[in-house]
Amino acid sequence: MKLPVRGLAAALNSSGKFKEKAPEAVVDHLVVGAGVVGLAIAQRLCDKFPSKSTYVVERHSRAGEETSSRNSEVIHSGIYYPADSFKTRLCLRGRELMYQRCRALDIPHRKTGKLIVAKANQRPYIENLHLKALKLQWPPYSDGKLVSSPVLPTALISGDEARAMEPNLSKDISAALWCPETGIVDSHSLMESLEKDILESEAGDLAYTTRVVRLDPYTSRSFAPNADAERGWVVHTVTGNNQGTESDAILARTVINASGLSAPFVLNTLLPQEQRIPMYYARGSYASYKGPGISGISHLIYPCPDTGLNAHAFASLGTHLTLDLNGKIRFGPDIEFLEPPSPDASEENMDYWTRHLIPDDSRLEQMHLAVKQYLPEVVAEGLQPDYVGIRPKLVPPGAGFQDFVFQANYPCQFGGLGVVRESPMISLLGIESPGLTSSLAIAEYVVDDLLSSINSAQ
Ligand SMILES: Cc1cc2nc3c(=O)[nH]c(=O)nc-3n(C[C@H](O)[C@H](O)[C@H](O)COP(=O)(O)OP(=O)(O)OC[C@H]3O[C@@H](n4cnc5c(N)ncnc54)[C@H](O)[C@@H]3O)c2cc1C
Ligand SMILES: *[C@@H]1O[C@H](CO)[C@@H](O)[C@H](O)[C@H]1NC(C)=O
Ligand SMILES: *[C@@H]1O[C@H](CO)[C@@H](O)[C@H](O)[C@H]1NC(C)=O
Repeated sequence: MKLPVRGLAAALNSSGKFKEKAPEAVVDHLVVGAGVVGLAIAQRLCDKFPSKSTYVVERHSRAGEETSSRNSEVIHSGIYYPADSFKTRLCLRGRELMYQRCRALDIPHRKTGKLIVAKANQRPYIENLHLKALKLQWPPYSDGKLVSSPVLPTALISGDEARAMEPNLSKDISAALWCPETGIVDSHSLMESLEKDILESEAGDLAYTTRVVRLDPYTSRSFAPNADAERGWVVHTVTGNNQGTESDAILARTVINASGLSAPFVLNTLLPQEQRIPMYYARGSYASYKGPGISGISHLIYPCPDTGLNAHAFASLGTHLTLDLNGKIRFGPDIEFLEPPSPDASEENMDYWTRHLIPDDSRLEQMHLAVKQYLPEVVAEGLQPDYVGIRPKLVPPGAGFQDFVFQANYPCQFGGLGVVRESPMISLLGIESPGLTSSLAIAEYVVDDLLSSINSAQ
């Protein structure tokens, strides 16, 4: 029997390399991570609070170098997740905000629509999705003008109707679910538009090649002259390729942790060992394709997810066909849970997943088998390893549905000054798919709901 996958429960600064020191500057909002989610939140903070300072710190030399540039770039319709989950609510709302922003700012995108294709025995799966879609309600903040139309229009069509849209679909496909709202977006242009808004705002700034290495609640031990007046978090950062122990310390009144695959490590620093949040990393490989069997393809094509004994639709949507805006065709992502080198919390292990980012041909045979189920003329020789993305999972394989998590913590919970609801640190955990689609709605939820309710309670 295969042993269960271990989670990694690492913490920042577990070796104590970076020593406590007094903050040298103060910022109202500190956003950790310039992926699409961190940028969207920072952009909204700058927009809503123009006189408050908002800094984004990112360890790479530019935005979106991790998961935000290693995904399918699909604007999801929001059909797959439980109706009352954050994933459904924020995907539906995020999709609307995404199309609005793309239209307003000329961000390259296309509403391609998608087909979820089913063999005879998979028909109940798409029928259920169709019924679920019919019942979905418009999420909070939706434009009132839209409310009379369905939030997630779908159509159940026959195999022949599907083949009229995509002639090379297998004869074994006996039905399909057509989702016209699905599309694709150039995620880099989206992130550039957010960066531009932040830089052009009054009090927003971006610091690249700057990593957070330590975080403590602000206490009177934090040596500041007006210690009693301040609340917040002392955040240590290191800029450049400095490998030493010199860090800069800044007092952040609010911290937003959008550090993706590393998101639990900050919190883990503050939690006792047994309460640390473990992370699971699930690799998704893509293959580009040139060859027969894909003539004229213009829609995204998804198989029914494997819902067999050891698989789960919530873990992965199955190896599907995506198009990019240049019409390039690729297949993926598949799913492969990674094993950390050791389960212990040593800092050297934190980024062990980076060595799995190199695409290789070990996945091609499996991928070809999966694709042939719905596009039978696709040939193995046409597949080339393309790129790899890693999903930040909060639960191990087989664990069922896991929603996005928005966790609020306060300095006083860890011995800092203030009371509960003062100086929040919001941690965004498990922001896997549909995180790109949801990004603008996640920002709306975090800034307009979470932070506003916290601030108004003070
Ligand atoms: C294979 C795959 C396919 C996907 N397909 C889709 C899709 O088609 N549609 C969709 O909607 N979603 C999709 N997703 C999900 C989507 O890509 C993610 O939800 C989204 O990109 C998450 O963005 P983020 O900003 O939270 O994380 P990230 O992009 O990972 O950003 C986190 C940032 O934090 C930085 N960071 C980490 N630690 C530190 C530190 N200590 N100091 C400073 N900076 C730090 C990192 O460098 C990184 O840039 C897919 C994901 C995967 C893996
Ligand atoms: C694939 O589609 C094209 C039309 O777009 C058609 O000419 C060709 O016969 C199809 N191939 C198969 C095997 O159906
Ligand atoms: C926020 O991000 C940092 C940087 O990766 C991480 O170490 C920390 O645990 C996160 N904070 C929380 C509360 O999870």
